[in-house]
Amino acid sequence: MDWAVRLLKSSIGAKVLMAVTGVILSGFVVGHMAGNMLIFAGPEALNDYAFGLKNTPLLLWGTRLTLLAAVTVHVLTAFKLYMGNNDARPVKYAYNGKKKATTIQSSTMIISGAMLLAFIVYHLLHFTLGVVDSGNYAEQHIWRTTADGEQIVNVYFMVVKGFSNPLISGSYIIAMVLLGSHLSHGISSLFQSLGANNTRLRPHLQKIGYAVATIVTLGNISMPLAVLTNILKLPAGA
Ligand code: HEM
Repeated sequence: MDWAVRLLKSSIGAKVLMAVTGVILSGFVVGHMAGNMLIFAGPEALNDYAFGLKNTPLLLWGTRLTLLAAVTVHVLTAFKLYMGNNDARPVKYAYNGKKKATTIQSSTMIISGAMLLAFIVYHLLHFTLGVVDSGNYAEQHIWRTTADGEQIVNVYFMVVKGFSNPLISGSYIIAMVLLGSHLSHGISSLFQSLGANNTRLRPHLQKIGYAVATIVTLGNISMPLAVLTNILKLPAGA
C-alpha cells in the first residue's frame, strides 16, 4: 500500500494518473462525438439515441460518475504538476544550447485545458441543465410519446435551435479547436507516460494523436457548421 501512495505522490505517478484519466476522457469524447453525429440521420435517430441513454440508468450514472472522477483527478493532477514545475525552478535556466522540442499544442496545454473546463461547465448548463438558452431546452419540447406512454424529448430541436444562434455556434467552434489542440498533444504524450517511450515509436504516436484530434474536431465542428449553412434544419412545422 505504501508503495502505491509513494507512486501517486511522485511525478511519475502523477503523469500515469494524467495518462489514465486522459484515456478515459478521450474515449468519452470520441464516443460522444460519434453518437451526436446521429443528428445527420434526423430527429428520430438522435432523439431515440438520447432516450435510450437516459433509460439505461446504470450506463448513464456509471458514465457520469466515472467522468466526474476522471475530470477531477485530471485537473487536480495537472495543477499539481504545473505548480511543481514552477516551484522547482523559480529562476529559469539560462539557455543551455539544446532546447527540448515544443509545439504550440504542448506549450499551451494548461491554457487549452483551463478553457476546456470552462467550456464543459457552459456545455452542461446549456444541453444538460437547460440554464443557457432555456427556451429551447429539450425537456420542454416533446418529440413523441412511446406506446408505454413515455415521452421522448426533442434533443434534435434543442441542438439545431441552439446552433442557429451564431454566437453559440461560434463559441462551440472555438472550443472544439481548443479541444483538438489539447487532444493532439495529450494523446501522443499519454502513450509515453504509459511506457511507450522509444524514439522509433514517437512519430507514430504523434500521428495517432493528430488523427484522433482531427477526427473529433472536424466531427464536432461539422454540427454547428451544418446548422449555420442550413444543411441541418428543423422539420417543417417544428
Ligand atoms: C458540437 C459538439 C457537441 C454536441 C453537439 C454535444 C451535444 C450534447 C448533448 C445534446 C448533450 C445532452 C444529452 C442529453 O441530455 O440527452 C450533451 C451532454 C454532454 N456533453 Fe456534449 N456535445 C458536444 C461536445 C462535447 C464535448 C467536446 C464534451 C467534452 C469535452 C462534451 C461533454 C458532455 C458531457 C459531459 C455531457 C453530459 C452527459 C450527461 O448528461 O451525463 N460534449 N452533449
